[in-house]
Parts: sequence; C-alpha cells; structure tokens
Amino acid sequence: MRTLPVLLDVDTGVDDALALLFAVKHPSIDVRAITCVAGNASLAQVIQNTLRVLDAADAPAIPVAGGAVRPLIEAARSASHVHGEGGLGGLELPSTARLPEPVSAVELMRSTLMASDERITLVALAPQTNLALLLRTHPEVADRIERIVFMGGSASVGNATAVAEFNVWHDPEAAAIVLDSGIPIFMYGLDVFNQVSVEQDAAAALGDGKDPLGRIVGSLLSNRVALSEDATLTYTGLIGDAGAVCALVDPDALVVERRPVRVELAGYGRGQTIVDRRRYSGEDVLHGGIGNWAVVDVALDVDAERYASLFLETLGLSA
Ligand code: RIB
Ligand code: CA
Repeated sequence: MRTLPVLLDVDTGVDDALALLFAVKHPSIDVRAITCVAGNASLAQVIQNTLRVLDAADAPAIPVAGGAVRPLIEAARSASHVHGEGGLGGLELPSTARLPEPVSAVELMRSTLMASDERITLVALAPQTNLALLLRTHPEVADRIERIVFMGGSASVGNATAVAEFNVWHDPEAAAIVLDSGIPIFMYGLDVFNQVSVEQDAAAALGDGKDPLGRIVGSLLSNRVALSEDATLTYTGLIGDAGAVCALVDPDALVVERRPVRVELAGYGRGQTIVDRRRYSGEDVLHGGIGNWAVVDVALDVDAERYASLFLETLGLSA
C-alpha cells in the first residue's frame, strides 16, 4: 500500500535516475509528481532524461513538469564532468512517448499540493530553484507540505568546492530561501551521500546481466567521474540521490542531529551549509548575535550497506 505521498524535484543526472527508479519501485512511496530543474544538465536534457527513466522503470503516468532553466542569481553551471554531456553518464535510454505537462514546475507543485487531501513530502534532489520560486510565488502551499527532505549541503567537506555541495552551491539563494521557510527540513548531505555505494564487481555484474533494469542500474553505478585535473577516472558506485529516498522509508539507518544550519552566501565559502554542532553557544551569541539559522534534522552517519541492500532489493536486483 503506497502510504507516503511525495513530490520529487530532480536534475536527472546519473544518481537522480537511481533515485527515480527506487522511488517508483518502492511499495510504500506514492510519487504524485516530478518536477525538473537545470543542474547536472540543461533543463531540456533533465526533462528528457526523467521521462526516459520513468519508461525504464515501467512507471505509471506520473506528471512531470519543467521549471527553472538557471539558478536565481548565478548562471547555469552544469556538472557534465560528473554526469556526462547527456546527463546519464554513458547510458543511452530509448526515446519515450511520455511528454511533460503543459505547465511550469511551480504550477505542478502548487496544484499537486493543493489538490491533495493529505500533506505531501517534498524531496529535493537538485538545486532548490523550483522550491524557492514555489515558496515565493505561492506561500499558501507551505501548510500543505509535510516536510522537505533535501539531498544537499554538508556538515564537513564539499564537492563543488572545498566546503560547498553541488546542489546548494549551484543556487545558494534558493537553498537559503527554503531553509528559512519555517517548513520542517531534513538534510541528507555529503556526510552520508558519500558513504552509500555498490561494489564495483556487483555493478559490473548487473551491467553485464540479463535483466534490462539491472543493465541500466549497472551502467549508472559504473559511471566514472573525472575527479581531478589529470582526469583520473575513479569508480564510485554511489547510489547518490537514491540514498535520500531510502531515508524516507528507513530513517533508522541514519544518525541524525537537530542542528542550526545556514547557507553562506558570500566569499570563498559561498554555497556552504554551516552546521552548528557545538554543544553550547559561543562569542557569536555574546557579541552581536548570530543571524538567521534554521533548525534542521541533519543526517551525519548511515549504515551504508543497509541502504545499498535496500536500494538493490527494492529494484529486484541482488548484489
Ligand atoms: O552533490 C551531489 C548532488 O548534486 C546530487 O543531487 C547530484 O545529482 C547533483 O545534483
Ligand atoms: Ca541530483
């Protein structure tokens, strides 16, 4: 029985594709709508990738709509060095008859939230431009949102920069607007994102196997990322965004702390999510105040093997 209504916001992308497959296949998750935003690839590419992945998942007719073509302030800066020009690594999925809805992402989010007889969980797996535009255009929807679960940020190291994670770095103002919305927020950041992976041999076996879905998942997991100037390609096997969706159905596999969080908008730290893990306040409170901090449930550790197994088993694939 699909008991958890969700709305996914994606920039499909290799790991967004894994997250879409998991969300559609998990028996408890009721995907009400999917909205697309520029991030890993251009908006047009993200929409096309999302529709094709839904076909690959044999998904029902879930409404999909395109949103922002670039962040609120910054220019669009794709992550093609990670996800490839097409956004799905080397994977070529067949064309699809599916079409996006003839409305904007903001309108699809608004209508989906307002039409639901229960609150919906927003799952943001991309730069949060669409969510920010929704909250600024239709503040009345806030009461229809159960909580926002976002893949993004970090309480430790970054990936886009030394301290900033890509989704927040891509549109820091949008992330700040979402954090300051007053809606309950759960942060699935790099502290856990970087831990959940599938062994290289298992991914290769899936890619070479007879199961069409296994071949797609194997290809996505085997996507190699140019991690350094000399284009050293390293296998990661990360399920990435799919881990944030695992957190919806198996939160007990995580170590979570409720912490003050803010997005740095200036300087070398632009796009950093500063997570205050101090046990007591310091001089910032005594001398001049601390500015605007949201209180956020932050995932800081994970039983990585448990999520990797949950991911593969939900897709009917064995490691
Ligand atoms: O930093 C990782 C995040 O950025 C993931 O959501 C990935 O898909 C990219 O959007
Ligand atoms: Ca993503």
